[in-house]
Amino acid sequence: MFTKTITTDFFTTIDGSICINTLDTITYRLPTLRKWASISEMERELLEYLWVPESEILSFYRWSEALYHALKLIDIKAKDEIIVQGYTCVVVSNAVLQSWGKIIYSDIDKNTLWFDIKKLEKNITKKTKVILVQHTFGKPVDMQQIMKIAKQNNILVIEDCAHSLWSISWDHHTGTLADFSMFSSWRDKVISSVTWGFLVINNPEYLKKARRMKELLTMPSRTLTVRNLIYNILWYFAYKTYDIFKLGRVIMLISRRCKLITDILSKEEKTCSKTKFWTAYPNSLAYLWRKELAKIDMYTTHRRNIAELYDMNIKTKHWEKVFIEDNNEFMNAFRYPFLLTSHKVQKEFIKYMKNHGVLVWTSWSGTNIAPKWVKAKNAGYKKKSCLVSEDIANRIILLPNHMWVTIDEVMKICKLINKFESKNA
Ligand SMILES: Cc1ncc(COP(=O)(O)O)c(C=O)c1O
Repeated sequence: MFTKTITTDFFTTIDGSICINTLDTITYRLPTLRKWASISEMERELLEYLWVPESEILSFYRWSEALYHALKLIDIKAKDEIIVQGYTCVVVSNAVLQSWGKIIYSDIDKNTLWFDIKKLEKNITKKTKVILVQHTFGKPVDMQQIMKIAKQNNILVIEDCAHSLWSISWDHHTGTLADFSMFSSWRDKVISSVTWGFLVINNPEYLKKARRMKELLTMPSRTLTVRNLIYNILWYFAYKTYDIFKLGRVIMLISRRCKLITDILSKEEKTCSKTKFWTAYPNSLAYLWRKELAKIDMYTTHRRNIAELYDMNIKTKHWEKVFIEDNNEFMNAFRYPFLLTSHKVQKEFIKYMKNHGVLVWTSWSGTNIAPKWVKAKNAGYKKKSCLVSEDIANRIILLPNHMWVTIDEVMKICKLINKFESKNA
Protein backbone atom coordinates (compact mmCIF):
# COMPACT_ATOMS: atom_id res chain seq x y z
CA MET A 1 0.00 0.00 0.00
CA PHE A 2 2.83 2.41 0.87
CA THR A 3 5.90 2.57 -1.38
CA LYS A 4 8.97 2.23 0.79
CA THR A 5 11.59 4.98 0.64
CA ILE A 6 15.15 3.68 0.82
CA THR A 7 17.12 6.10 2.97
CA THR A 8 20.83 6.45 3.54
CA ASP A 9 21.77 8.82 6.27
CA PHE A 10 19.05 8.82 8.90
CA PHE A 11 19.26 5.30 10.25
CA THR A 12 22.70 3.85 9.88
CA THR A 13 22.71 1.42 12.80
CA ILE A 14 19.42 1.97 14.57
CA ASP A 15 17.25 -1.14 15.03
CA GLY A 16 14.79 -2.86 17.36
CA SER A 17 17.43 -4.16 19.75
CA ILE A 18 18.98 -0.68 20.25
CA CYS A 19 15.50 0.65 20.89
CA ILE A 20 14.80 -2.08 23.49
CA ASN A 21 18.20 -1.64 25.16
CA THR A 22 17.54 2.10 25.36
CA LEU A 23 14.12 1.58 26.92
CA ASP A 24 15.71 -0.78 29.40
CA THR A 25 18.37 1.84 30.22
CA ILE A 26 15.97 4.71 30.87
CA THR A 27 13.43 2.70 32.88
CA TYR A 28 14.42 -0.41 34.80
CA ARG A 29 18.17 0.29 34.97
CA LEU A 30 18.08 4.04 35.48
CA PRO A 31 18.22 4.13 39.31
CA THR A 32 21.43 2.08 39.47
CA LEU A 33 23.15 3.45 36.38
CA ARG A 34 25.41 5.95 38.07
CA LYS A 35 27.05 3.27 40.18
CA TRP A 36 28.16 1.13 37.27
CA ALA A 37 31.66 0.99 35.93
CA SER A 38 30.48 0.91 32.30
CA ILE A 39 32.83 3.63 31.03
CA SER A 40 36.04 2.23 32.46
CA GLU A 41 35.08 -1.30 31.41
CA MET A 42 34.25 -0.04 27.95
CA GLU A 43 37.54 1.85 27.63
CA ARG A 44 39.50 -1.26 28.63
CA GLU A 45 37.49 -3.41 26.24
CA LEU A 46 38.22 -1.04 23.40
CA LEU A 47 41.98 -0.89 23.96
CA GLU A 48 42.13 -4.67 24.06
CA TYR A 49 40.01 -4.85 20.97
CA LEU A 50 42.43 -2.55 19.13
CA TRP A 51 45.37 -4.61 20.48
CA VAL A 52 46.92 -1.65 22.33
CA PRO A 53 46.29 -2.50 26.03
CA GLU A 54 49.19 -0.27 27.14
CA SER A 55 47.69 2.90 25.65
CA GLU A 56 45.60 5.42 27.59
CA ILE A 57 42.06 6.37 26.62
CA LEU A 58 39.87 9.38 27.42
CA SER A 59 36.13 9.43 26.72
CA PHE A 60 34.32 12.59 25.66
CA TYR A 61 30.79 13.54 24.85
CA ARG A 62 31.75 14.29 21.21
CA TRP A 63 34.60 13.42 18.85
CA SER A 64 35.65 17.05 18.36
CA GLU A 65 36.37 17.27 22.10
CA ALA A 66 38.77 14.34 21.75
CA LEU A 67 40.68 16.09 18.94
CA TYR A 68 40.74 19.40 20.82
CA HIS A 69 42.23 17.67 23.87
CA ALA A 70 44.84 15.85 21.78
CA LEU A 71 45.94 19.26 20.49
CA LYS A 72 45.93 20.66 24.04
CA LEU A 73 48.12 17.77 25.22
CA ILE A 74 50.57 18.64 22.44
CA ASP A 75 50.39 22.27 23.55
CA ILE A 76 49.78 23.83 20.15
CA LYS A 77 50.89 27.47 19.80
CA ALA A 78 49.60 30.09 17.33
CA LYS A 79 52.56 29.67 14.98
CA ASP A 80 52.18 25.85 14.76
CA GLU A 81 50.79 24.37 11.58
CA ILE A 82 48.43 21.40 11.53
CA ILE A 83 48.01 19.66 8.19
CA VAL A 84 44.50 18.39 7.52
CA GLN A 85 42.97 16.68 4.48
CA GLY A 86 41.27 18.89 1.91
CA TYR A 87 38.19 16.64 1.96
CA THR A 88 36.97 16.55 5.54
CA CYS A 89 34.23 17.43 8.03
CA VAL A 90 33.75 20.88 9.56
CA VAL A 91 34.06 19.52 13.12
CA VAL A 92 37.68 18.67 12.37
CA SER A 93 38.34 22.24 11.19
CA ASN A 94 36.54 23.73 14.20
CA ALA A 95 38.60 21.78 16.77
CA VAL A 96 41.85 22.65 14.99
CA LEU A 97 40.98 26.35 14.72
CA GLN A 98 39.98 26.48 18.41
CA SER A 99 43.28 24.92 19.45
CA TRP A 100 45.01 28.16 18.25
CA GLY A 101 46.94 26.29 15.58
CA LYS A 102 47.06 27.26 11.92
CA ILE A 103 45.09 24.89 9.68
CA ILE A 104 46.75 23.86 6.41
CA TYR A 105 44.58 21.90 4.00
CA SER A 106 46.45 19.40 1.85
CA ASP A 107 44.91 17.78 -1.22
CA ILE A 108 43.88 14.12 -1.50
CA ASP A 109 44.46 11.23 -3.85
CA LYS A 110 41.44 10.42 -6.03
CA ASN A 111 41.62 6.63 -5.59
CA THR A 112 42.01 6.40 -1.83
CA LEU A 113 40.65 9.73 -0.54
CA TRP A 114 43.77 9.95 1.68
CA PHE A 115 46.47 12.59 1.51
CA ASP A 116 48.26 12.81 -1.82
CA ILE A 117 51.69 11.96 -0.39
CA LYS A 118 53.67 14.21 -2.75
CA LYS A 119 51.48 17.20 -1.98
CA LEU A 120 51.61 16.40 1.73
CA GLU A 121 55.42 16.44 1.67
CA LYS A 122 55.36 19.78 -0.15
CA ASN A 123 53.13 21.25 2.54
CA ILE A 124 55.47 20.29 5.38
CA THR A 125 57.43 23.27 6.70
CA LYS A 126 59.53 24.00 9.78
CA LYS A 127 56.31 25.15 11.48
CA THR A 128 54.44 21.87 10.90
CA LYS A 129 53.66 20.34 14.26
CA VAL A 130 50.97 17.79 13.45
CA ILE A 131 49.69 15.74 10.52
CA LEU A 132 46.04 14.78 10.97
CA VAL A 133 45.37 11.62 8.96
CA GLN A 134 41.79 10.72 8.07
CA HIS A 135 40.66 7.19 7.16
CA THR A 136 37.85 8.47 4.97
CA PHE A 137 34.75 6.26 4.69
CA GLY A 138 36.63 3.37 6.32
CA LYS A 139 39.50 2.97 3.81
CA PRO A 140 42.52 2.46 6.11
CA VAL A 141 45.45 4.73 5.32
CA ASP A 142 48.89 3.12 4.95
CA MET A 143 50.12 4.54 8.26
CA GLN A 144 53.64 3.13 7.96
CA GLN A 145 54.31 5.51 5.08
CA ILE A 146 52.93 8.49 7.01
CA MET A 147 54.82 7.60 10.19
CA LYS A 148 58.06 7.46 8.20
CA ILE A 149 57.52 10.96 6.80
CA ALA A 150 56.56 12.26 10.25
CA LYS A 151 59.65 10.75 11.87
CA GLN A 152 61.97 12.25 9.24
CA ASN A 153 60.47 15.69 9.90
CA ASN A 154 59.98 15.36 13.67
CA ILE A 155 56.20 15.82 13.42
CA LEU A 156 53.45 14.28 15.55
CA VAL A 157 50.68 12.27 13.92
CA ILE A 158 47.00 12.12 14.89
CA GLU A 159 44.62 9.63 13.27
CA ASP A 160 41.01 10.55 12.61
CA CYS A 161 39.29 7.17 12.94
CA ALA A 162 35.72 8.52 13.05
CA HIS A 163 34.90 6.32 10.01
CA SER A 164 37.32 3.47 10.48
CA LEU A 165 36.60 1.44 13.61
CA TRP A 166 37.44 -2.18 12.70
CA SER A 167 39.41 -1.32 9.52
CA ILE A 168 42.89 -2.86 9.36
CA SER A 169 46.00 -2.14 7.31
CA TRP A 170 49.16 -4.26 7.43
CA ASP A 171 47.92 -6.12 10.55
CA HIS A 172 47.30 -2.87 12.45
CA HIS A 173 43.91 -1.58 13.45
CA THR A 174 43.52 2.05 12.45
CA GLY A 175 44.35 4.33 15.36
CA THR A 176 47.14 2.25 16.81
CA LEU A 177 50.33 3.50 15.11
CA ALA A 178 50.06 7.28 15.47
CA ASP A 179 50.77 9.32 18.61
CA PHE A 180 47.05 9.93 19.13
CA SER A 181 43.84 8.75 17.53
CA MET A 182 40.16 9.58 17.91
CA PHE A 183 37.20 7.31 17.25
CA SER A 184 33.52 8.13 17.22
CA SER A 185 30.33 6.25 17.94
CA TRP A 186 28.06 9.15 17.08
CA ARG A 187 24.65 8.07 15.80
CA ASP A 188 25.67 7.80 12.14
CA LYS A 189 29.00 6.04 12.67
CA VAL A 190 30.29 2.45 12.41
CA ILE A 191 28.56 1.54 15.67
CA SER A 192 26.33 3.97 17.53
CA SER A 193 25.86 4.85 21.16
CA VAL A 194 24.13 8.05 19.93
CA THR A 195 27.17 10.10 20.87
CA TRP A 196 30.73 9.52 22.07
CA GLY A 197 34.24 10.46 20.98
CA PHE A 198 37.28 8.77 22.45
CA LEU A 199 40.89 9.73 22.39
CA VAL A 200 43.51 6.98 22.36
CA ILE A 201 46.97 8.09 23.49
CA ASN A 202 49.67 5.78 22.14
CA ASN A 203 52.68 8.05 22.73
CA PRO A 204 53.95 7.27 26.29
CA GLU A 205 55.26 10.83 26.66
CA TYR A 206 51.68 12.13 27.04
CA LEU A 207 50.15 9.44 29.26
CA LYS A 208 50.59 11.19 32.61
CA LYS A 209 49.28 14.52 31.36
CA ALA A 210 46.28 12.74 29.82
CA ARG A 211 45.37 11.09 33.13
CA ARG A 212 45.38 14.50 34.84
CA MET A 213 43.18 15.91 32.07
CA LYS A 214 40.59 13.19 32.67
CA GLU A 215 39.86 14.61 36.11
CA LEU A 216 38.93 18.03 34.72
CA LEU A 217 36.03 16.86 32.56
CA THR A 218 32.45 17.61 33.56
CA MET A 219 29.44 15.32 33.14
CA PRO A 220 26.72 16.31 30.64
CA SER A 221 23.42 17.35 32.20
CA ARG A 222 20.75 14.67 32.73
CA THR A 223 18.55 16.40 30.14
CA LEU A 224 21.26 16.17 27.53
CA THR A 225 21.77 12.48 28.26
CA VAL A 226 18.04 11.77 28.08
CA ARG A 227 17.78 13.69 24.77
CA ASN A 228 20.48 11.42 23.39
CA LEU A 229 18.81 8.26 24.63
CA ILE A 230 15.41 9.30 23.34
CA TYR A 231 16.87 9.59 19.84
CA ASN A 232 17.06 5.78 19.59
CA ILE A 233 13.40 5.38 20.43
CA LEU A 234 12.01 8.23 18.33
CA TRP A 235 14.14 7.40 15.32
CA TYR A 236 13.22 3.73 15.45
CA PHE A 237 9.54 4.61 15.21
CA ALA A 238 10.28 7.30 12.63
CA TYR A 239 11.96 4.73 10.41
CA LYS A 240 9.17 2.19 10.86
CA THR A 241 6.51 4.75 9.91
CA TYR A 242 8.55 6.81 7.44
CA ASP A 243 6.16 6.10 4.57
CA ILE A 244 2.92 5.52 6.51
CA PHE A 245 1.10 8.77 5.79
CA LYS A 246 4.56 10.33 6.17
CA LEU A 247 4.21 9.88 9.94
CA GLY A 248 7.91 9.11 10.38
CA ARG A 249 8.86 12.37 8.69
CA VAL A 250 6.54 14.23 11.06
CA ILE A 251 8.14 12.48 14.08
CA MET A 252 11.58 13.51 12.82
CA LEU A 253 10.53 17.10 12.19
CA ILE A 254 8.84 17.53 15.57
CA SER A 255 11.64 15.89 17.53
CA ARG A 256 14.17 18.20 15.86
CA ARG A 257 12.10 21.38 16.13
CA CYS A 258 11.08 20.75 19.74
CA LYS A 259 14.66 19.82 20.64
CA LEU A 260 13.60 16.41 21.93
CA ILE A 261 16.79 15.09 20.37
CA THR A 262 20.21 16.69 20.01
CA ASP A 263 21.36 18.49 16.84
CA ILE A 264 23.82 16.86 14.44
CA LEU A 265 25.89 20.03 14.46
CA SER A 266 25.45 23.06 16.69
CA LYS A 267 25.31 26.56 15.17
CA GLU A 268 28.76 27.19 16.64
CA GLU A 269 30.20 24.12 14.94
CA LYS A 270 28.77 25.10 11.58
CA THR A 271 30.53 28.46 11.79
CA CYS A 272 33.67 27.05 13.46
CA SER A 273 33.09 29.04 16.66
CA LYS A 274 32.40 26.22 19.13
CA THR A 275 34.65 26.70 22.15
CA LYS A 276 33.28 24.35 24.82
CA PHE A 277 35.13 21.05 24.80
CA TRP A 278 35.01 19.78 28.36
CA THR A 279 32.18 17.28 28.52
CA ALA A 280 32.70 13.67 29.57
CA TYR A 281 30.70 10.66 28.45
CA PRO A 282 27.80 9.33 30.54
CA ASN A 283 27.47 5.77 31.90
CA SER A 284 24.12 5.07 30.30
CA LEU A 285 25.50 5.59 26.81
CA ALA A 286 28.56 3.46 27.63
CA TYR A 287 26.18 0.63 28.50
CA LEU A 288 24.61 0.90 25.02
CA TRP A 289 28.02 1.09 23.38
CA ARG A 290 29.11 -2.23 24.87
CA LYS A 291 25.97 -3.87 23.53
CA GLU A 292 26.69 -2.43 20.08
CA LEU A 293 30.35 -3.45 20.03
CA ALA A 294 29.19 -7.05 20.30
CA LYS A 295 27.47 -6.57 16.92
CA ILE A 296 30.34 -4.99 15.02
CA ASP A 297 31.19 -8.15 13.06
CA MET A 298 27.60 -8.43 11.94
CA TYR A 299 27.49 -4.76 10.82
CA THR A 300 30.80 -5.07 8.99
CA THR A 301 29.83 -8.28 7.21
CA HIS A 302 26.55 -6.69 6.13
CA ARG A 303 28.26 -3.54 4.79
CA ARG A 304 30.95 -5.55 3.00
CA ASN A 305 28.34 -7.84 1.38
CA ILE A 306 26.39 -4.83 0.16
CA ALA A 307 29.54 -3.22 -1.23
CA GLU A 308 30.28 -6.42 -3.13
CA LEU A 309 26.78 -6.45 -4.60
CA TYR A 310 27.14 -2.82 -5.74
CA ASP A 311 30.55 -3.65 -7.25
CA MET A 312 29.18 -6.62 -9.17
CA ASN A 313 25.92 -5.13 -10.37
CA ILE A 314 26.49 -1.47 -11.22
CA LYS A 315 27.34 -1.22 -14.88
CA THR A 316 26.96 2.24 -16.33
CA LYS A 317 29.12 4.68 -18.26
CA HIS A 318 28.43 7.42 -15.69
CA TRP A 319 30.00 5.45 -12.85
CA GLU A 320 33.56 5.30 -11.51
CA LYS A 321 34.36 3.11 -8.52
CA VAL A 322 36.46 4.78 -5.82
CA PHE A 323 37.87 2.13 -3.46
CA ILE A 324 39.66 -1.07 -4.33
CA GLU A 325 40.61 -3.18 -1.33
CA ASP A 326 44.32 -4.00 -1.33
CA ASN A 327 45.64 -7.39 -0.17
CA ASN A 328 47.13 -5.79 2.93
CA GLU A 329 43.82 -4.18 3.97
CA PHE A 330 40.55 -5.04 5.62
CA MET A 331 37.96 -2.32 5.01
CA ASN A 332 34.95 -1.94 7.29
CA ALA A 333 33.02 -0.65 4.20
CA PHE A 334 31.52 2.09 6.38
CA ARG A 335 30.33 4.03 3.31
CA TYR A 336 30.00 3.02 -0.33
CA PRO A 337 31.25 5.91 -2.49
CA PHE A 338 31.35 6.23 -6.26
CA LEU A 339 32.00 9.09 -8.66
CA LEU A 340 29.81 10.50 -11.41
CA THR A 341 31.21 12.34 -14.41
CA SER A 342 30.46 15.93 -13.33
CA HIS A 343 28.76 18.11 -10.73
CA LYS A 344 25.77 18.62 -13.03
CA VAL A 345 25.38 14.85 -13.40
CA GLN A 346 25.72 14.50 -9.61
CA LYS A 347 22.83 16.92 -9.01
CA GLU A 348 20.73 15.26 -11.71
CA PHE A 349 21.46 11.80 -10.24
CA ILE A 350 20.46 12.78 -6.69
CA LYS A 351 17.14 14.10 -8.02
CA TYR A 352 16.58 11.02 -10.20
CA MET A 353 17.14 8.64 -7.26
CA LYS A 354 14.85 10.71 -5.02
CA ASN A 355 12.10 10.56 -7.64
CA HIS A 356 12.45 6.76 -7.54
CA GLY A 357 12.27 6.54 -3.73
CA VAL A 358 15.98 6.33 -2.93
CA LEU A 359 17.59 9.02 -0.78
CA VAL A 360 21.35 8.84 -1.35
CA TRP A 361 23.73 10.38 1.20
CA THR A 362 24.43 13.96 0.18
CA SER A 363 26.21 15.45 3.24
CA TRP A 364 29.62 14.97 1.61
CA SER A 365 28.47 15.97 -1.89
CA GLY A 366 28.96 19.44 -3.36
CA THR A 367 31.43 20.66 -0.72
CA ASN A 368 34.86 19.48 0.35
CA ILE A 369 34.25 20.72 3.91
CA ALA A 370 31.24 18.61 4.84
CA PRO A 371 28.37 18.85 5.46
CA LYS A 372 27.12 20.78 2.48
CA TRP A 373 25.39 23.57 4.41
CA VAL A 374 28.71 24.75 5.91
CA LYS A 375 30.67 27.72 4.55
CA ALA A 376 34.19 26.46 3.74
CA LYS A 377 35.54 29.99 4.26
CA ASN A 378 34.61 29.81 7.97
CA ALA A 379 36.67 26.64 8.22
CA GLY A 380 39.76 28.48 6.98
CA TYR A 381 39.60 26.84 3.55
CA LYS A 382 40.68 28.91 0.55
CA LYS A 383 38.73 28.05 -2.59
CA LYS A 384 40.70 26.15 -5.26
CA SER A 385 43.54 25.34 -2.85
CA CYS A 386 42.70 21.59 -3.00
CA LEU A 387 41.40 20.96 -6.50
CA VAL A 388 41.11 17.16 -6.30
CA SER A 389 39.16 17.42 -3.03
CA GLU A 390 36.75 19.91 -4.62
CA ASP A 391 36.39 17.75 -7.71
CA ILE A 392 35.67 14.62 -5.64
CA ALA A 393 33.07 16.49 -3.58
CA ASN A 394 31.39 17.66 -6.76
CA ARG A 395 31.10 14.16 -8.19
CA ILE A 396 30.74 11.78 -5.24
CA ILE A 397 27.65 9.78 -4.29
CA LEU A 398 27.29 7.59 -1.20
CA LEU A 399 24.83 4.72 -1.53
CA PRO A 400 22.63 3.19 1.20
CA ASN A 401 24.37 0.36 3.07
CA HIS A 402 23.00 0.45 6.63
CA MET A 403 21.49 -2.50 8.46
CA TRP A 404 17.96 -1.95 7.17
CA VAL A 405 18.96 -2.17 3.50
CA THR A 406 18.03 -5.56 2.07
CA ILE A 407 19.52 -7.45 -0.91
CA ASP A 408 16.33 -6.80 -2.92
CA GLU A 409 16.69 -3.08 -2.27
CA VAL A 410 20.34 -3.13 -3.31
CA MET A 411 19.34 -4.85 -6.56
CA LYS A 412 16.63 -2.23 -7.10
CA ILE A 413 19.21 0.54 -6.59
CA CYS A 414 21.65 -1.10 -9.02
CA LYS A 415 18.92 -1.41 -11.67
CA LEU A 416 17.97 2.25 -11.21
CA ILE A 417 21.61 3.34 -11.52
CA ASN A 418 22.09 1.24 -14.66
CA LYS A 419 19.00 2.81 -16.22
CA PHE A 420 20.07 6.37 -15.36
CA GLU A 421 20.65 8.48 -18.49
CA SER A 422 22.07 11.95 -17.98
CA LYS A 423 21.03 15.03 -19.95
CA ASN A 424 24.36 16.57 -19.00
CA ALA A 425 26.67 13.70 -20.03
C1 LIG B 1 35.99 12.60 9.05
C2 LIG B 1 35.24 12.92 10.30
N1 LIG B 1 35.93 13.15 11.42
C3 LIG B 1 35.30 13.45 12.58
C4 LIG B 1 33.93 13.52 12.64
C5 LIG B 1 33.28 13.88 13.95
O1 LIG B 1 32.54 12.86 14.44
P1 LIG B 1 31.23 13.13 15.35
O2 LIG B 1 30.08 13.14 14.43
O3 LIG B 1 31.26 11.99 16.25
O4 LIG B 1 31.40 14.41 16.04
C6 LIG B 1 33.17 13.31 11.51
C7 LIG B 1 31.71 13.42 11.54
O5 LIG B 1 30.98 12.94 10.74
C8 LIG B 1 33.84 12.99 10.31
O6 LIG B 1 33.16 12.76 9.20
